[in-house]
Amino acid sequence: MSVCVRVQTSAVEKERVVAELYALGTQGIEELEADAGALLLAYFPEGQIPNFEDLHNPSRGVEVSRPELVPPCDWEERWREGLAPRQIEGLWIRPSWCASEGEPELVIDPEQAFGTGEHASTRLSLTLLLKALQPGDRLLDLGTGSGILGLAALRCGAAFALALEVRDGSIESIKGEERFQLSVANMLLEPLSRVVPEALSLTEVMIVSGYLEDQSDQVARLFPPSWTHKTTITETQSGDRWCASCWYQS
Ligand SMILES: C[S@@+](CC[C@H](N)C(=O)[O-])C[C@H]1O[C@@H](n2cnc3c(N)ncnc32)[C@H](O)[C@@H]1O
Repeated sequence: MSVCVRVQTSAVEKERVVAELYALGTQGIEELEADAGALLLAYFPEGQIPNFEDLHNPSRGVEVSRPELVPPCDWEERWREGLAPRQIEGLWIRPSWCASEGEPELVIDPEQAFGTGEHASTRLSLTLLLKALQPGDRLLDLGTGSGILGLAALRCGAAFALALEVRDGSIESIKGEERFQLSVANMLLEPLSRVVPEALSLTEVMIVSGYLEDQSDQVARLFPPSWTHKTTITETQSGDRWCASCWYQS
């Protein structure tokens, strides 16, 4: 058997609470929709119930219920079962264990949260990328992770995609004469702030994603006046309002 504790948390505290639950040894966390903030169900092995005294803090909006006995759960299996094909701008994306729902499709097996279309920032960047893509375009995919954005562009008509991960030395490794019609970077604000200014001399269109709505002004300041903002799209996931925007050189 396992034990389950219900943790009610404010949106502000949620990321910290999740990290603390993992530090306390949780086997898995489910997040349920809540009117305000989030309701987390955290599971622990029976006999290894940690002390929640430090976590339980109603004055900061964090309330931990008494542990309840529940049947054990195969977390890997449950996660796999929760994934389903997704269609973004006409392109189907699915893991290999889900049946095909149609063409064109990209089959990509997730190993982590990113790279599967499961995260809002991937869906947002893919939406803008596939809207902007013209047949024969050359794409620069910055922070490629699983390669989902570059592979999707190739499946949908790009002639070429250069995909860079952080360990490749990123943009410095690009030869001076390389030019791209489109670039995409889906990463948090801090790496975006380093990567975007370096990439602008290489591309005609720049799509940025991975930042929150209240960081939009900081993202706008990464672009010089010669760059114009075209579109911003947003999606709320687990109480966070994620943004992606498309910019072009005017
Ligand atoms: C949020 S994930 C996005 C992965 C994938 N592109 C997607 O859309 O699902 C961000 C990726 O950017 C990479 N990254 C972070 N900083 C970077 C940098 N300075 N240069 C290149 N890649 C970076 C990370 O290693 C990670 O794989």
